[in-house]
Amino acid sequence: ATKLIIDTDPGVDDAFAIALAALSDDVELLGVTTVYGNVPLAATTRNARRVLALCKRADVPVAAGAERPLVYPHPHRARYAHGADGLSGRSSALPEPGRELERADAVTLLTRLLEAADEPVTIAPIGPLTNIAALLAAHPGLRERIARIVVMGGAMDHGNTTAAAEFNIWSDPEAARRVLAGGEVPCVLVPMDLTYRCAVDTEWLATLAASGPVGAALDALTPDYLDHYRKALGWNGVVLHDAVAVAEAVRPGILRTKRFPVDVECSLGPARGTTVVDRRRPELRADTEGEHAPGTVDVAVDTDLDGLRAFLLD
Ligand code: BDR
Ligand code: CA
Repeated sequence: ATKLIIDTDPGVDDAFAIALAALSDDVELLGVTTVYGNVPLAATTRNARRVLALCKRADVPVAAGAERPLVYPHPHRARYAHGADGLSGRSSALPEPGRELERADAVTLLTRLLEAADEPVTIAPIGPLTNIAALLAAHPGLRERIARIVVMGGAMDHGNTTAAAEFNIWSDPEAARRVLAGGEVPCVLVPMDLTYRCAVDTEWLATLAASGPVGAALDALTPDYLDHYRKALGWNGVVLHDAVAVAEAVRPGILRTKRFPVDVECSLGPARGTTVVDRRRPELRADTEGEHAPGTVDVAVDTDLDGLRAFLLD
């Protein structure tokens, strides 16, 4: 089984993603680390612990990480989509955490888990990339212990937080640039272009709700999220961004990827947080390579949409 650590800011879709990993036989979930993002750190941490309690996974350690981005303050939350508590105002309906929060912080727990694992570990960051950039900066020697980093983030067509940028990358572009463009560890990027196409409808949610207590509890987190997507997309369904990325971590190859150089725009202008995916033909890239060659990233571009939805449900 793939050894996995999730770094997260729950978030309704984060809750689905955590449950997917927590309940899957294909992965060994070694730990969960939390980061500010959709809501402040105290709330994302509490939410992550509650979702694990829902899944009866008190064996999984949780450690809290960054409260803010590396360089600039974080002026924006995603309450409009995830509610003030991060789970559509329904977090208190989930069970109380079944295990104490680790005293160690996220980077320390990541370090401990990576050092103890007998094989390289997959990390799935599904929030701002602050903790992961801090890990790479502080412990370059641990790079070899990371099999790959499967990131939910980025946008090639248009953003969701700004016209150009997707929320996770926009939240901490400097951190995202370190992780994605640094070329230090193999990365998979699961951008919103693909996650939007993997949206699930109300029929899918109803099937989930009928599947048992965990499915019912997850479905109960969705009414406001559904409302947000009704307004945003005019569509009767929700986008489970983070669960799509974690599906790839759990079942490598379920998403089809293409390798491109990827960089992140860190200027303070309107393109801040844009993922710049170089889709030019390799021969045409050669000119600029010397002066500026960002790392290559496996960008998820396609999947069997119904197969993926069935996998998530299962
Ligand atoms: C990402 O932003 C957050 O709101 C979601 O949880 C997801 O990680 C989508 O842009
Ligand atoms: Ca998230």
